[in-house]
Amino acid sequence: MAKVLVIGSGGRCHAIIAGLKKSPLVDEIYAAPGNAGISEIAKLVDIKETDVTNLVKFAKEAQIDLTVVGPEAALSVGVVDEFRANGLKIFGPTKAAAQIESSKEFAKKLMLKYNIPTAKYEAFDNYDEAASYVKSHGAPIVLKYDGLAAGKGVIVAMSENEALAGLKEMLVDNAFGKGRVVIEDYLEGPEFSFMCLVNNDKVYPLELAQDHKRAYDNDLGPNTGGMGAYSPLPFITEEEREYALEHIMKKMAKAMVLEGVPFTGVLYGGLMKTKNGIKVIEFNARFGDPETEVVLPRLESDLYKAFTNVLAGKKPNLVWSEKQAIGIVLASKGYPMKYEKNFLIEGLDMPNVFHMGTKLVDGKYYTNGGRVLICVALGSNLKEANKKANEMVKNIKCDNLFYRTDIGHYAFKNRK
Ligand code: AMP
Ligand code: GLY
Repeated sequence: MAKVLVIGSGGRCHAIIAGLKKSPLVDEIYAAPGNAGISEIAKLVDIKETDVTNLVKFAKEAQIDLTVVGPEAALSVGVVDEFRANGLKIFGPTKAAAQIESSKEFAKKLMLKYNIPTAKYEAFDNYDEAASYVKSHGAPIVLKYDGLAAGKGVIVAMSENEALAGLKEMLVDNAFGKGRVVIEDYLEGPEFSFMCLVNNDKVYPLELAQDHKRAYDNDLGPNTGGMGAYSPLPFITEEEREYALEHIMKKMAKAMVLEGVPFTGVLYGGLMKTKNGIKVIEFNARFGDPETEVVLPRLESDLYKAFTNVLAGKKPNLVWSEKQAIGIVLASKGYPMKYEKNFLIEGLDMPNVFHMGTKLVDGKYYTNGGRVLICVALGSNLKEANKKANEMVKNIKCDNLFYRTDIGHYAFKNRK
């Protein structure tokens, strides 16, 4: 029987652990640092996700058989490199391979070199040169700070003035630190997430999902970490999925092997279906959040075996449920701007409620973050899943939460 450690603390980590919990091969699960909801199904270890030294020490002492990494922050401080150097089995990419997410320019250069479809781009570290490129190109245009900027480093500028103000923020005021900016052509179309389990050039696709970034219904309001997701996607044809798998995901995995930075872990393609075909918006080096929360509950085969098989160079033999999933995020009123915490939450006792930001005090749950919970429902189609997820949300009693009621709306209108 195996002992597993999952690094991370959000809803994604909760969903990974819920998946591992179903495996008859796993008998002990630890989460570092985990969260209040996770404490119901795993043992919490009080070590920060970036405290590599103590994570390695814990994994050795507890004789952990497999570690799975959730957040990018842990990858970018080299948690996988250290675990491997200590002979510990870990599912995730090295620091060098995780650059596919942490460096926009690294990702763009590889896409260009290996002919992976994406928006045309130029990179700059000088404001005057960047500004003259923007003026000659015109708007709309997209600016991406080349580094991790907690999701805030992308500006989709609809006017030239907006682009110039963004450039000033990034290259003159150094709002995210001193760095470079990738400026790319504006693309249009629905976005979707393609996560694959990868080991070198071997690529095994998970089911597709779509995230909802805006805070309010009808995709209005500010950008968030994700207000809900659903899977599968009726508006992506089998041919389009196959194209994305062969010409984007497998091609990138192979490119990374050829470049001497082989990828192991979850390679996440943030893709867009444009009128000129499927294109890459970004790659991530980890499970998506909240996509993972709707994809993993649809996995019928053994998740532990999937990870260990992929690490051993074998097929994971993934089996998916016919059921379709919708997840609705409940967030603190005011999120993603200012919000208050410590509101009592009741009615949580339902399957597939994953905790994102809660705390447990004297046996009761309280809000403890911007995004607080995600309620995931499965149904025979997305409409039914949406109805059920909305019923789950109504069961939850709390005075300070809001949510979107239209998760999945694009799929309802755009069938194959
Ligand atoms: P990223 O962090 O690269 O995923 O960018 C964040 C968001 O900005 C994406 O989810 C898109 O909605 C938008 N975006 C990024 N690049 C482009 C582009 N080239 N054209 C249009 N929108 C984009
Ligand atoms: N849902 C987007 C992400 O995980 O980056």
